[in-house]
Amino acid sequence: MTDISRKKVVLGVTGGVAAYKAAELVRRLGEANIEVHVVMTQAACGFITPATMQALSGNPVYTDMWDARIANSMAHIELSRDKAAIVIAPATADFMAKLVHGLADDLLSTLCLARDCPLLVAPAMNRQMWEHPATQRNVKKLAEDGVTILGPASGDQACGEIGQGRMLEAQDIADAVAAFLAPKSLSGVRVLMTAGPTFEAIDAVRGITNRSSGKMGYAIARAAIGAGAKVTLVSGPTSQQLPVGATVTPVQSAAEMFDAVKRNAKNADIFIGVAAVADYRVDKPREHKIKKTEKTALTLKLVPNPDILAWVAAQPKPPFTVGFAAESQHLETYADEKRRRKKVQLIVANLAQAAIGADDNEVMLLDDSGTRKLMRAPKEMVAKDIVAHIATLYHSAKKRR
Ligand code: C5P
Repeated sequence: MTDISRKKVVLGVTGGVAAYKAAELVRRLGEANIEVHVVMTQAACGFITPATMQALSGNPVYTDMWDARIANSMAHIELSRDKAAIVIAPATADFMAKLVHGLADDLLSTLCLARDCPLLVAPAMNRQMWEHPATQRNVKKLAEDGVTILGPASGDQACGEIGQGRMLEAQDIADAVAAFLAPKSLSGVRVLMTAGPTFEAIDAVRGITNRSSGKMGYAIARAAIGAGAKVTLVSGPTSQQLPVGATVTPVQSAAEMFDAVKRNAKNADIFIGVAAVADYRVDKPREHKIKKTEKTALTLKLVPNPDILAWVAAQPKPPFTVGFAAESQHLETYADEKRRRKKVQLIVANLAQAAIGADDNEVMLLDDSGTRKLMRAPKEMVAKDIVAHIATLYHSAKKRR
């Protein structure tokens, strides 16, 4: 796992109903090896208690400028001094307006004004408050001031309405904060990648697909974003949550995936083919549902799909190209043969039966310098190691050019 060596953040909680998600966020940040120090506004204390946040974070919670626990009565300065960032979640419309104008009439707003570290805010409010020109102006101004805006998401709201303004889920915020704090080995590097299965239509309702869940690909997208890359993700149908910060092009078939990759390949520094692309598609998918006939067998003619990875690697000026190989036996031999045949710089090999659909993975990395095995671990952690290895190879290949 990329070690962000236990960075500390202030988590500022303001008074919105999404404050209940801040409790979960403390846990998720802790899991990402981030120490959390909570500061709450008075309004936030109406939604969730400091005692809850204290128990979850394991650190004292501050709500008051004049808190006697800070020896020199300078809580508004001291609390942010050794912190890597201040994260406001949820951030109400009112609190964002205060930030824009530099108001400092309580501990949290004063802390934000007196900070010497980055500020990230996760807005949460009713959709009309979010859409109001005043809020939109404020969000734009905060971004111009260098504040990182996380979300909001769209969906059901506590007020019963549906629309933009929901706070991002705790896991998404924690991922974004961890990514923000992680070392940036791929800063500004453009990564194009494929993930998930493809779906090859047979008729209007049926199709051929496979068991790829998209977990590994999405974890790699998140890890690459965490390493500072600009990620374009061409994704087959999956139920994975979209990685915050990626440009996602959803596709169904291998042909659509190929088109999307062709459109983006020229602008990529690195291509990572994680998708489980169907090797064959139905020659002529029927427009309408095929009717059952009891007596005759149904014959489908399958034709081969283009090899997207091999096409990218064969371009005159290809990006640094990474492929995956899922094999059921002779893993190293078959994967290396694939690496040479498709002319890719790195192959990530795994046993198909152990990886597809699972939460964990155990992979081998094969490149010109040899083979290295990574320990079995959750896909999110494996993804970080794979991305770290890709970054090392990419930078040394660039130096040699
Ligand atoms: O040949 P095989 O399907 O095992 O190769 C796997 C690798 O090639 C993966 O990186 C996969 O994303 C890529 N691939 C592709 N287009 C295909 C088939 C595989 O990009 N049609």
